[in-house]
Amino acid sequence: MISVPTPQRRVRQKQRHSVCYVLCKTNPLLHFLQQFVQTPRSIGAICSSSRKLAEAMVCMVPQHRQGLIIDLGAGTGSVTGALLRAGVPPQRIVAIEKCGQFAATFRKRYPQVPLIVGDACQLNALLQAIAPDASLCAILSSLPFRVLPQAVVTTIQQQLHEALNTRGGILIQYTYAWWMDFPLAKHGFTPHSKQFILKNIPPARVESYTQALKANMFAGG
Ligand SMILES: C[S@@+](CC[C@H](N)C(=O)[O-])C[C@H]1O[C@@H](n2cnc3c(N)ncnc32)[C@H](O)[C@@H]1O
Repeated sequence: MISVPTPQRRVRQKQRHSVCYVLCKTNPLLHFLQQFVQTPRSIGAICSSSRKLAEAMVCMVPQHRQGLIIDLGAGTGSVTGALLRAGVPPQRIVAIEKCGQFAATFRKRYPQVPLIVGDACQLNALLQAIAPDASLCAILSSLPFRVLPQAVVTTIQQQLHEALNTRGGILIQYTYAWWMDFPLAKHGFTPHSKQFILKNIPPARVESYTQALKANMFAGG
């Protein structure tokens, strides 16, 4: 038997939805959790990166190197916030985020920082469109490599290689599986410094990488 909601029940449902909507929009933690519940394999975390984690990433940015700093998988902007607090001028940062709702939050928090709503699978085309000749200082990636589909991971790794090959710079990435080797280490990225961050949910390990090999290393599969 199909039960048709009464008008009063419909009103109550609508009220419940709008209360949830307002709570999720105004509370960053709930906003993140809501997105995680909707697309766990793309978001990869139940809350945004902590201040400590974002600051640890920023500490690994080479100070002597010129060029753009990319906040890849920028989410609601924790890493960009740490870059700005460290004194990086907003025009040196380019944030890239796939999720439109996170991008909207990011824009409200940091209207002065260039933000591309786009997919890391097209990293080089996106950079080409906004900064064709710019060199890179660092790519700070929050992308959840362990939960993204393998084909997406491979494409993004190729894009990262190409970007670093042609524009220079280093890659800084964190993982929540801090007891395991990074998958990136098997794909031509050489780890340098690393740091464990306990004050994050969940605890994380941040590592900086340079490239060991050229981008065409993937040609053989
Ligand atoms: C762990 S969360 C980001 C945390 C971020 N540092 C913060 O504090 O808000 C990973 C982010 O990567 C984004 N993402 C996942 N796949 C992506 C892709 N292919 N291109 C761009 N962003 C992507 C997700 O939408 C999510 O915002």
